[in-house]
This record gives sequence, structure tokens and C-alpha cells, in this order.
Amino acid sequence: MAKPESKTKPREIKKDIYCVGAIDWDRRLFDSLIPLPDGTSYNSYLIKGSQKTALIDTVDPPMKDVLLKNLDELGIRKIDYVIFNHAEPDHSGSIREVLAKYPEAKAVCTDRCKTMLIDRFMVAEERFKTVEDKETIDLGGRTLEFIHAPWVHWPETMLTYLREDKILFPCDFFGSHLAITDMYVRDAGQEYEAAKRYWAEIMMPFRLQIQKNLEKIKDYDIEIIAPSHGPMHDKAEFIIEAYRSWAYDEPENIVVIPYISMHGSTRAMVAHLVEALTRRGVTVKQFDLAASDIGKLAAALVDAATIVIGTPTVLTGPHPNVAYAAFLANALKPKTKFASIIGSYGWGTRAVEQLAAMLPNLKVEIIDPVIIKGYPREVDLESLDKLADTIVAKHKAAGIA
Ligand code: FEO
Repeated sequence: MAKPESKTKPREIKKDIYCVGAIDWDRRLFDSLIPLPDGTSYNSYLIKGSQKTALIDTVDPPMKDVLLKNLDELGIRKIDYVIFNHAEPDHSGSIREVLAKYPEAKAVCTDRCKTMLIDRFMVAEERFKTVEDKETIDLGGRTLEFIHAPWVHWPETMLTYLREDKILFPCDFFGSHLAITDMYVRDAGQEYEAAKRYWAEIMMPFRLQIQKNLEKIKDYDIEIIAPSHGPMHDKAEFIIEAYRSWAYDEPENIVVIPYISMHGSTRAMVAHLVEALTRRGVTVKQFDLAASDIGKLAAALVDAATIVIGTPTVLTGPHPNVAYAAFLANALKPKTKFASIIGSYGWGTRAVEQLAAMLPNLKVEIIDPVIIKGYPREVDLESLDKLADTIVAKHKAAGIA
């Protein structure tokens, strides 16, 4: 459904380079999965050379009118190239309308992206121009260089570098779901949190491929990073350094505890373990999955050394909300090194076996779970103290102070 109320106007980055995309203030869910507490934006960029004009990425289909009106407002009669860095519809979904409005335009993308765009949007093959890694297009005094960068975060992704202006257009890479009027990052704390959350939800499963892509851009002179979500970076090193630390650094002395409690037993166990770990100098992040924002949990997993999952037993297995969180943690593949499970049951349980089987992607050492019958007694609290001791010892042995 269209969103005609959006009034994002074109904004000039420098002479003949404009942001022409849309800010989506009210969107609260992405992919029917990812919470967007701060909305998002679909950034599209127009670049005019002395001979040719290019558009980099389009916008999510419900906001296509914002893009088309912005191009009209700038008096754009002809576009020669529409660059598709990525085939996901929040950036490519206006392809049919843009190519219809500009019939001479070629859709420029990787070969794999072309296939995906034809599959999804049924665009005629002759509208495409595919580009190889490091291939360039001359716009007249401005050169676009295409850098193949697979798996940020789909297999077809590439980055576009505008050489003379030293601007990198990386689409999702270095982005953040943040609806904001500032063109550039002005509140570094806010951006760091949003970008870290975005990393956790979108990029973290591809950490090893992203290391290769970070290597690939390290010799480029980049003054501005203009992603296709959130504000641009005029201090490019800020976000590149953050990505390096999330991609390469060892996890920290942090334990993340996502849990559910139905009648208070598991909550009492979590409370005791949090206190025991805190007394031993460990930072603990506790998430009640009955009410937590799953994006905050994902962000917490970025640098946690250990995850302890707390669950009651429901129909012999883990609580379904806990199973969902375990499934998500497994899919996101954080750097976590250790895992354990705590919880309680009434008459019988297979929660530990079922949860452990849900974590094959996590290359973790499982620390002995603490599963009890009913409400925790003194002996159970001692078991939780022992679990805290073991976690501290494991962190120390792994060099995580
Ligand atoms: Fe913002 Fe992967 O799309």
C-alpha cells in the first residue's frame, strides 16, 4: 500500500549528487520479523556526471511515489543507469516503475542480481547491463566503480564507489534502521546502537564473508559512506572500525540470559544466577522473552562470551518463546563460546536435549545445565553458584577477563 503522506524531499550531498529516497518514520517491523523501534529509511542517490546520470538503489515499493516525485522535483528527464547493489525489494522493489519512467535506463548489477531481479520482478532481460568486479562506468567527470561484495547479506550484493568524490554506496553494508532528519550521523551513540543492532540482525550470520569484504575496501580512500538505510557517515572510519570490532574481536566477559518463567521458579533461578555472576565481576544482560525486543537480544549476543538460556518445561520441552529465541540465536551465529541451560519442571522434562539440539551453528562448549524440579531450594542455588564459578573459570581460561 502506498504511503502518500511521506514528504521526504531531495537533499543535496554535493553539487549534482542528491539523496532522493524516503524516510519511513512509522514502520515497526521488517521482513515480518525484525522490530524497527526507530523506523527506517530507503536511501536512493542520484549522481549526475557531465554526460550521464545514474540512480543508485531505489526504494521499498510502498514509497515509490516519494522517489519518483523527488526525481521530478529535480527535473530529471533522463536516467542512463539504475544501479542495483542488492536485489532485496526494500531497495530494488521500485524497479519496474523507475525503468518504465526512464525507458533508456539500463539496470546495472551483478550477474546473480540480474537473475534474482528477473525472478522477482519479471523485468525484461534486455534492460540489464551486468558488471564484473572492479568494472567502471564513466558518467563524464565522475566514475562509478563496482566492487563485488557477496554476502552483505545476500549472495548477489555489490558496493558502488564514486571515485572522484570518494563516496562509497554500500547499500545494506554499514547501514542502520533509523528514521532521522540528519543527513549525516550526528549522535554517534544513537547510531552505534542502531548500527550494532542492524549488524546483529542482518550481517552477523555472514561474519567470515564480511571479513573478506572489509579487507576488500581497506585500500579505498573513502570520505563518505552513503548506505541505503539510516544516516550517511562523513566520518567513515567510525563505522568501519565498529564493523572491524564486531567482525574480528574476541567476545567479552558478558553473559546473556534470555528466559521465560511461567510460575516464578525459573525467574528465581535467573535472579540468583545474575547476582552470582555480577558478584564475580561478569556483566550480565537479562531478557524476559515474554516482553523483550528480540533485536536488543540479538545486539547483546554480538559480544557475549556466554549464553545461558532459562526455560520452564512445557509439554516436556522448552517454552515455545525460548525455542524461538534459541532458533534465532543459532541462525545469527554470534561469536559466543559457551552455553548453558537452567530451568525447572513439574514432573518430567526433555527441555535440555531439545534446546541443545537447536544450537548446531553455535560453536559453543555446553556447560552442565541446572535443571530442577519445582521451586529452587538451597541446594539448587548452590548449583547455580557452581555454574557461575564454572563460567568465570571458562572465561578466564579463554583469555576473556
Ligand atoms: Fe535493506 Fe537486504 O535489504
